[in-house]
Amino acid sequence: MKDQAYHIPVMLQECITGLSINPKGIYVDLTFGGGGHSKEILKHLDGGHLYGFDQDEDAEANIPDSENFTFVSANFRDLKRYLRLHGVKQVDGILADLGISSHQIDEPTRGFSTRFDGDLDMRMSDAMTLTARDVLNTYEEAKLHKLFGIYGEIKNAKTLAQAVVAYRATEPFATIAQFKAMLNKFAPRGKEFKYFAQVFQALRIEVNDELGSLEEMLLQTVDVLKPEGRLVVMSYHSLEDRLVKNFITKGKFQGEVEKDFYGNLIRPLEPVTRKAVTASPEELLINNRSRSAKLRIAKKN
Ligand SMILES: C[S@@+](CC[C@H](N)C(=O)[O-])C[C@H]1O[C@@H](n2cnc3c(N)ncnc32)[C@H](O)[C@@H]1O
Repeated sequence: MKDQAYHIPVMLQECITGLSINPKGIYVDLTFGGGGHSKEILKHLDGGHLYGFDQDEDAEANIPDSENFTFVSANFRDLKRYLRLHGVKQVDGILADLGISSHQIDEPTRGFSTRFDGDLDMRMSDAMTLTARDVLNTYEEAKLHKLFGIYGEIKNAKTLAQAVVAYRATEPFATIAQFKAMLNKFAPRGKEFKYFAQVFQALRIEVNDELGSLEEMLLQTVDVLKPEGRLVVMSYHSLEDRLVKNFITKGKFQGEVEKDFYGNLIRPLEPVTRKAVTASPEELLINNRSRSAKLRIAKKN
C-alpha cells in the first residue's frame, strides 16, 4: 500500500494502451513519482527496458526492484542528454504524467498545499534554488501581475501584484499562513479556497518553470522517439494541455500549422486519438485527482 499512499496513478490502463507496448522495447516514464505507471509498464516488458525520470529525490523511495528498470534523477528537460549518458539513442515510447504527486502536496514541509502552514518553498527538487518565497519577495510588480494572471488565471491579478509589493515593503514573505492571511483580503467571498489554489498554482508553475521544461522536453521527444514510437502525455491544467495539443497537432506551440508544397501537414508527430482522453466515470468516483486529467496520445511519423 506504500505506493498508493504516495500517489494513485491516473488513467493507468488508458496510458498503457496509449503506449502500445512492445515487450522488447525501450520506454521512458518521465514522471516516475510513486512509480504506479512504471510498475505497470514493467509488467508488459519481456526483454525490454524502462528508464524512470524524476527530479524529486523523494521518488527514489519507490524504485522497483527490477533489472529492467533504471532510475534517472533528473529534470525531464534534459531527456536527450540523460538517455545518451545511458547509451540510449531512440526509444519506443515516452510517458509523462505532469505536475506534482499527492505525496508532494501532502507533505507540509514542501510548501505546495494551502491546507498546511510551512515555508513558502514549492520546489520539486532540492537542486533548484528559486523558491515561492523568493518569487514573492523579489519579483517586480509587472512580472507578478503576469504570472498571477496567466498561470493562475486570477481576475484581480494586478491588484494582487500591487498588494504583494506593498506588503513586502514592511515585512518579507516567509510562511504559508502569513501569505494566506494577506490573500484572504483579495479572495472572492465563499471562493477563498479556489482563489488560494489558483495563486499557489501560479507560484508553483513559476518556481519549477513547468511550462519551460515541458516545451523543452516535447521538442526532444521528436529526436528520441523511433518512427511509430508513442508519446503519451497527461496534463492537469489548460496551459499545459494547450502546449501538448498544439505540439502534437501542429508541430509547434503557437500559430498555424505549416504545409509542404503538396499541401501535406508538416508535423513530426501525429495524433492517435482525435480528442483528449479523460477519466472514466468509475475512476472519477474513486480518484478526485483524475477530474482535471487530459491524456493525449501521439505517434512519431
Ligand atoms: C503526477 S506525479 C507522477 C505520478 C506517477 N505517474 C505515479 O504513478 O506515481 C509527477 C511527478 O513528476 C515529477 N516531475 C514533475 N516535473 C518534472 C520534471 N520537469 N522533471 C522531472 N520530474 C518531474 C514530480 O516530481 C512528480 O514526482
